[in-house]
Amino acid sequence: MQRFHVTTFGCQMNVHDSERIKGMLEAAGMGEAPAEDEANVLVFNTCTIRERADDRLVQHLNAARIRKEREPDLRVVVAGCWAESVREAIFRDFPWVDAAVGPGRIGALQTVITAPAGAERGAFGSFDDFAADLPKRRERHHQAWLQLSMGCNSVCSYCIVPSVRGRERSRHPRDVLAEARLLAAEGVTEVTMLGQNVNSYGRDLPPAERCTFAEMLRAVDAIDGINRIRFMSPHPKDMRGDVIEAMAECDAVCNQLHLPLQSGSSRILKQMRRTYDADRYLELVARVRAAIPDVALTTDIIVGFPGETEADFEETMRVYDAVGFDHAYTFIYSSRAGTEAASFDGHIADDVKHERLSRLVELVQQHAALRNAALIGTVQEVLSDGPSRREPTVFRGKTRGNKTALFSPPAPAGTIVSVQIEQSTSQTLRGTQAIPVTA
Ligand code: SAH
Ligand code: SF4
Ligand code: F3S
Repeated sequence: MQRFHVTTFGCQMNVHDSERIKGMLEAAGMGEAPAEDEANVLVFNTCTIRERADDRLVQHLNAARIRKEREPDLRVVVAGCWAESVREAIFRDFPWVDAAVGPGRIGALQTVITAPAGAERGAFGSFDDFAADLPKRRERHHQAWLQLSMGCNSVCSYCIVPSVRGRERSRHPRDVLAEARLLAAEGVTEVTMLGQNVNSYGRDLPPAERCTFAEMLRAVDAIDGINRIRFMSPHPKDMRGDVIEAMAECDAVCNQLHLPLQSGSSRILKQMRRTYDADRYLELVARVRAAIPDVALTTDIIVGFPGETEADFEETMRVYDAVGFDHAYTFIYSSRAGTEAASFDGHIADDVKHERLSRLVELVQQHAALRNAALIGTVQEVLSDGPSRREPTVFRGKTRGNKTALFSPPAPAGTIVSVQIEQSTSQTLRGTQAIPVTA
């Protein structure tokens, strides 16, 4: 039997695409190998957001080449955003790659994977379908991704995503809701809605079929069995009052918001083409906090964008401090060929970028420790994910605010429990299970 192994490099979109890839390969009669070296079909689902993602992939491809010299039947398949960015050149530069598909063409994977030698080995470019009806293989029984849209219409000057994922296309609300109901019937309690810009959902649909993001939140909230709704990522420019109201009013929508800031300098935000400035972002945060006082806020920040001065960076630190985020993903600017910012003047030296990043990371940790410590003494609802990897007698799960909580006594994965928080670090909360909320 053919045995496959999928390695995922990218964001949640890619993780979700990998579930479809696995589902498709299983439907084609293959089985999943427990480890990469036991598989005879290797799939790399790639990312190209930063240069480092590309470098990691090349290491994997080189290792696959060495294996293939010994095992000529080994099949090497490349999917995802990097495949889309290099297209047919992949077969020239990495001739041992057997098949490749872009993120919009996952449905073609089975055809290209089984193509006879000499036939078409790649499927890139246009988007075939949401592949929503493709079989999926979920990692967790009680949690699922719910894809709302594909692609992105923003023009952030640093970002490669629009060129590899294409224009934004919203899934039909009927299909999204049918999937959500099916998930609930299968026992899923938590869904995370996905889109590059999830809150612009629906704008490209014909008026008669249009459903806004806020309406979608309410519709999924109304489905029995779905107790937790998260989403990512919203763009601050599209975070309107109706979404904030829906978040505050829907019981299932978690008190958590990932709101990418990117920079605290209004001058840099303009160069990034983010279309908001620092003051507008801070006003938005104030509105969200007024409606959802215990909201956990996380963000994405890029340091060392071309032309970023020390004063610009200090603005980022100031805005970060003013918001007091719960956590942040921090990135060093990486120039991507074909993006607008790649041709900007004033690229920043690596040592300056690293020095700024370390100052920012320190601030991120300080605020994370403070925000978590503020939860000591509270009771948090935790969805158990089962035993912790490091301490098998302790169980772990996520709070509604999306924080990792370690707790005892144990509760099976998928159970929702109440945990009295007794300790915290910048990364985790720890406590004792109180009375069960639901089973
Ligand atoms: N669509 C989502 C995610 C985009 S990629 C959004 O807009 O929020 C995730 C993060 O990667 C971005 O938010 C940004 O902070 C970072 N990123 C994107 N391009 C980058 C680049 N060229 N260099 C460094 N970080 C980048
Ligand atoms: Fe990239 Fe901006 Fe679109 Fe996010 S919103 S995917 S950062 S272009
Ligand atoms: Fe995601 Fe990377 Fe593609 S961040 S959208 S997998 S380039």
